[in-house]
Amino acid sequence: MSYPGSKGGSGVWQKIISHMPVHVHYIEAFAGSAVILKTKRPAPGRNIGIDVDRCVCDRLSSELPVSAATVICGDAMQWLPDLQECQEPTTLVYCDPPYLAETRTRRLYAHELYTPDEHESLLTMLQGLRCMVMLSGYWSQLYHDRLSDWGMIHFPAMTRGGLREEHLWMNFPAGRPLHDTRWHGEDYRERERIKRKRKRWTLRLMAMPQAERQILREAITAIPDDAAGVQDPAPSLPTMLEAQSFHPAAAEQAAAGLYSSGAAYLIATEAASPRVSPLVLV
Ligand SMILES: C[S@@+](CC[C@H](N)C(=O)[O-])C[C@H]1O[C@@H](n2cnc3c(N)ncnc32)[C@H](O)[C@@H]1O
Repeated sequence: MSYPGSKGGSGVWQKIISHMPVHVHYIEAFAGSAVILKTKRPAPGRNIGIDVDRCVCDRLSSELPVSAATVICGDAMQWLPDLQECQEPTTLVYCDPPYLAETRTRRLYAHELYTPDEHESLLTMLQGLRCMVMLSGYWSQLYHDRLSDWGMIHFPAMTRGGLREEHLWMNFPAGRPLHDTRWHGEDYRERERIKRKRKRWTLRLMAMPQAERQILREAITAIPDDAAGVQDPAPSLPTMLEAQSFHPAAAEQAAAGLYSSGAAYLIATEAASPRVSPLVLV
């Protein structure tokens, strides 16, 4: 039987992890069975789970090796503002508190966070932290009003009481490089498509002569993380391939200015070399 309110449901943990930006320290407050902490790639710095329930903490401590994470048994409302890591912008705090009473039908935990006042205090405390914060919940007027300047996504999730719309609020802008890309994608089908693409590209790259692979690796590394949003007058792919047949140097110039598409950049880099046939990685 899964822990009440667990984030282990199909499609739920994948969605949460694939919105987590790169971070140095990770803190999961209101940890419960700590599905996210146990599943995501560990942070390179400290990994901490916090829950106020002694039984929950004992179980977590027995499941997580001390080297993997620190379990703090205590009130997250008091611990978060006091942890040094929470004042560092490179720390990520993920909170999955007991949801606001008006958004659910019954009490589930020995320790609840039930009333609007308690949730007001939670939001005030989280807004005072200097680190990145992600917060799960159901929609309520309170959260809507208080978190109007945070980013938010929502997605359906199956619960013991039926299908509900999970919300995830974030105090940082979307589009940051991801900490763990393994479950990126809207749904199972898209995640599988991305996995197949990764395998195909990897095999193509592994089959290449070493130097050629190095050239492509360097080209990929040179593409900025936020390249997708860059609006530049990049030449179209046919223009570059025409340029290549006309003069390889022209294609090289085209490639030098092209940062809006990783695949097209590879193609342009390939096209710029007279020794290598055009390569299309899609
Ligand atoms: C929604 S559950 C978390 C479920 C968890 N995300 C999972 O995947 O299993 C909420 C948890 O918050 C804990 N909790 C309630 N009040 C707390 C507080 N003030 N400080 C820390 N933990 C608290 C409860 O004991 C419960 O385990």
